[in-house]
Amino acid sequence: MPINKVMVIGAGQMGAGIAQVCAQAGYEVLLHDMSEEALNKGFNKIKELLARSVEKERMNEAEREQTLNRLIPTMQLNDVASCDLVIEAVLENMEVKAKIFRQLDEIAPKHAILASNTSSLPITEIAAETNRPDQVIGMHFMNPVPVMNLVEIIRGLQTSDETYLAIEAVSKKLQKVSVEVNDFPGFVSNRILMPMINEAIYTVYEGVASPADIDTVMKLGMNHPMGPLTLADFIGLDTCLSIMEVLYDGFNDSKYRPCPLLRKYVKAGWLGKKTGKGFYEYS
Ligand code: CAA
Repeated sequence: MPINKVMVIGAGQMGAGIAQVCAQAGYEVLLHDMSEEALNKGFNKIKELLARSVEKERMNEAEREQTLNRLIPTMQLNDVASCDLVIEAVLENMEVKAKIFRQLDEIAPKHAILASNTSSLPITEIAAETNRPDQVIGMHFMNPVPVMNLVEIIRGLQTSDETYLAIEAVSKKLQKVSVEVNDFPGFVSNRILMPMINEAIYTVYEGVASPADIDTVMKLGMNHPMGPLTLADFIGLDTCLSIMEVLYDGFNDSKYRPCPLLRKYVKAGWLGKKTGKGFYEYS
């Protein structure tokens, strides 16, 4: 079955980015959110980034308009009945995702593929909520989605080869490089990235160096585009903590113990850039 129409669920930072790259690639896109405010915010961000692309001559005015015309906001999950692919990008909570996948399984056409942009929750478990576990898969984009070239494709235990190949083709059409990953805690990206971030937080906690100096070591010493603490603030400290907890629970190994300072910041509501304070302050 060809994939022509995509529903992206969740108009937050990730969902809006995914909807944008899908529309740019020529797919018809329904961007869904339960909150009108979130939908408007997501759309405004997309409009802003498309306008910037015209300014930078990455696309022309006609392409910008065509891209926007392919994007339709909706608050009705029932609209998924006309879609060939769903990419879910709501908050990282198993109960919330399980409920959405049960609903999608009932409404989406039989042939539709149900993908999740989860950064660490088990695809096999999400798939088990549906009657089509062979058509459920992980499609993990990196933030900011329009800029980052990678998609981690995660195969659940029952994901079929047909589903995998269809999603590999979609990723290619989105001009992303994809990698094939089996369903394991943290997949590849977060299994490697998060312990590095957690270790950087331990380095602050133990008073080894200041956050700015730790970031400088990794930026100038290892050529990372952002230091790990800046990146943690950018990702969200609550997200970092929940991924560390998935690793800690999933492997039952003390090497993944979340740093107490990370827990403390999250308890204080210092979640990084989105709340104006994390390891740094943002105005
Ligand atoms: N959304 C869209 N575009 C953005 C953006 C955003 N949030 N932030 C920056 N950009 C664009 C800018 O508009 C700019 O594009 P143009 O000027 O060509 O229009 C381009 O990115 C470069 O931006 P800047 O020059 O302002 O800054 P920079 O060179 O430092 O790049 C960056 C910014 C791309 C974010 C870079 O710092 C970077 O690569 N950082 C690391 C990002 C990273 O590691 N992401 C993965 C996070 S982990 C994850 O997502 C998975 C998970 O599960 C947690």
